[in-house]
Amino acid sequence: MLKLAVLVSGGGTNLQAILDSLSDGRITNAEIVTVISNNRHAYALERAKSAGVPAQCISPKNYENRDMFYDALLDALEASEADLVVLAGCMVVMPEKIVERYENRIINIHPALIPSFCGKDYYGLRVHEGVLRRGVKVTGATVHFVDQGTDTGPIILQKAVEVRQGDTPETLQRRVMEEAEWVIMPRAIDLIANGRIQVTDGIVTISEEMP
Ligand code: GAR
Repeated sequence: MLKLAVLVSGGGTNLQAILDSLSDGRITNAEIVTVISNNRHAYALERAKSAGVPAQCISPKNYENRDMFYDALLDALEASEADLVVLAGCMVVMPEKIVERYENRIINIHPALIPSFCGKDYYGLRVHEGVLRRGVKVTGATVHFVDQGTDTGPIILQKAVEVRQGDTPETLQRRVMEEAEWVIMPRAIDLIANGRIQVTDGIVTISEEMP
């Protein structure tokens, strides 16, 4: 059973998609051992509680400096004995020491088709504002492993979503979530939990399902 630590910051719709997929069998061989939010007001914490999943808040506001916050986060991950760290709408950029400790064991969902509209200035609604400003006709979402860069790690899955005339950042964000994020995030976890993902020289390959 792959043990998951899910890191969140806000609404938690991606967490909900993972919870639903664990209950209906779209994800097998995995369980959530902890949900961690950096924001104590995150609705994601309520979602975890309703599902009966252990949840905790580790906020930078409760630590003297950033390093102490990162140490507390690493301690909580280690205490949970998680095999895979899932950044599901987590707005904290993982520090070097956590990335090193969990090499190819941290995944992130990004609401665009990497390498477009990604990097440190693109998160949350800003991504969709950038997409509309540039006028691209196709966007989407990406699940990738986390490395030392921002949105630069090996790509696991991507799904394209149409940009429509008259879209606002909010309508586009919703469509990207519904059509792409909530589909590929659970799918990526299921692939990892079932040993179907391999990373070689920064490239992900997915093996066939066992008959
Ligand atoms: C999602 O759209 C996710 O892709 C994005 O934040 C939103 C969180 O929603 N993540 C990033 O921008 C990371 N760079 P949620 O809390 O409802 O899952």
